[in-house]
Amino acid sequence: MNNGWDDSADPWIAKMGERGDWGREHVLDPMMLARVTARRFDHALDVGCGEGRFCRLLKENHIGVVGVDPTEKLVARARNRDPGGDYRLARAEALPFPSATFDLVISYLTLIDIADFRTALKEMVRVLQPEGTLLIANLNSFITSCPHGWIKDGHGRYLHYPVDRYLEEFSEWVEWSGIRIENWHRPLASYIQELLAQDLTLTFFDEPQPQSGDPARQARYRRAPWFMIMEWKRNIGPRLDSPMAN
Ligand SMILES: C[S@@+](CC[C@H](N)C(=O)[O-])C[C@H]1O[C@@H](n2cnc3c(N)ncnc32)[C@H](O)[C@@H]1O
Repeated sequence: MNNGWDDSADPWIAKMGERGDWGREHVLDPMMLARVTARRFDHALDVGCGEGRFCRLLKENHIGVVGVDPTEKLVARARNRDPGGDYRLARAEALPFPSATFDLVISYLTLIDIADFRTALKEMVRVLQPEGTLLIANLNSFITSCPHGWIKDGHGRYLHYPVDRYLEEFSEWVEWSGIRIENWHRPLASYIQELLAQDLTLTFFDEPQPQSGDPARQARYRRAPWFMIMEWKRNIGPRLDSPMAN
């Protein structure tokens, strides 16, 4: 299925550079790295690893990691940047691993790119060990409800960020910096309900603040924050409130 990633791989690699784009560098990475280094993880899976930047960061922090992505050029770039690394061509909806393989599964801004996110989440949970951690960074749903962004006045001043069709699920093509991809909007409830239906407990949730970067951009980000981070723990056995526990 063509969601734009094959044609967008080169501009994406250019955009990521060494430190990722503005949001990754100044907003997401500080919290994502804090989460993965807060405890000891040995065997991580980065689902939709792209050109492998976060896998390289995990390895710098002594966490063994496998990266999977369906975009050939991105996987080739990840292997090229990290010849000793383990990068595989695969989709989130059919992860090529036995059940209960990893103690940490990461989805770093990939749910918005996956058409069948419900199957993808089930797969991420399947390959997670009991008590393992599923760490998700995603775009906030009010942002994806209107992916064309801020309304500005005639002088280029930022007036407001519109929200529209929030309770629907739909995809739109978005374009920036030579990248053109299909992104999915779902209300936050769609993600949460799907995760609650799995054998998981929510252990962390935040809408991270910028930690650095151009002050005007930080101020604008605080008006309309783009990201959320959540962490779910896979339960050891049947949930206490499930009929199986009785
Ligand atoms: C916004 S990029 C994020 C890449 C990387 N996680 C990062 O933060 O730099 C989304 C990634 O999802 C990948 N992707 C698209 N469809 C996918 C699918 N069905 N399963 C897994 N990854 C997918 C794309 O190839 C792309 O690398």
